[in-house]
Amino acid sequence: MRIDVYPTPDSLVGDLYGKTVIVIDLLRATTSITAAVENGCRMVVPVVSVEEALICAEKFDKDEVLLCGERGGVLIEGFDLANSPLEYSVDRVLDKVVITTTTNGTIAINAAKGAKNVIIACLRNAAFAAKAASELESDIVIICAGTQKKYSMDDILCAGAIVHHLKNLGEYGLCDLSITAQKLYEEAQGNIDKALLGTLHYEKMRALGFYDDLKFCFEQDVCDTVPVFVDGAIVKMR
Ligand code: MLT
Repeated sequence: MRIDVYPTPDSLVGDLYGKTVIVIDLLRATTSITAAVENGCRMVVPVVSVEEALICAEKFDKDEVLLCGERGGVLIEGFDLANSPLEYSVDRVLDKVVITTTTNGTIAINAAKGAKNVIIACLRNAAFAAKAASELESDIVIICAGTQKKYSMDDILCAGAIVHHLKNLGEYGLCDLSITAQKLYEEAQGNIDKALLGTLHYEKMRALGFYDDLKFCFEQDVCDTVPVFVDGAIVKMR
């Protein structure tokens, strides 16, 4: 079996048929989605545009839906929640349909359509997501969201965490980016914050004052919720 890591959805090569895809947007979409699922939302529907989110919301009663996501890192006008994982608390999301659109993350999730299994991962659930993926016994493709179609180091560090855990669970052939990501993660794992100093999206989060979000996003293996994307919606696998 193999693990292939792609730095952006656009860089994907080959088809996903029969494979297990793990989607990562560490800062912050897949961390927020994992929090929403952990805290009991009915489902998360990831869409790529604001228009699509509004159309999707019409399919549900107003009081069962939350319109969520960000543009430029902040709340979309008229929406209920932005993209801070700390907003997705039990009192906000329990039993709700969370419709979300983010700049990069929800594009990456939709790019995984066609795979046999699609797992949503972040550092908080990395060990549990890796275990779930290994039990599915197929080739693994890790799709990183990146930032505006470019490689983003935060995602690669998280991909490295997943590769690190998978390598402890089975025999996998690794592509060069899987090896790079694993090494990078193993060097940085005690101090993710420091490793990301100067990188584009991390610095943007700091400039917006999202220090608590960063702290939350960098906590490792503290959440055993593994969200899966099935038929257009993200629900809890375990
Ligand atoms: C994205 O999808 O680009 C991100 O999650 C942006 C953000 O951090 O809000």
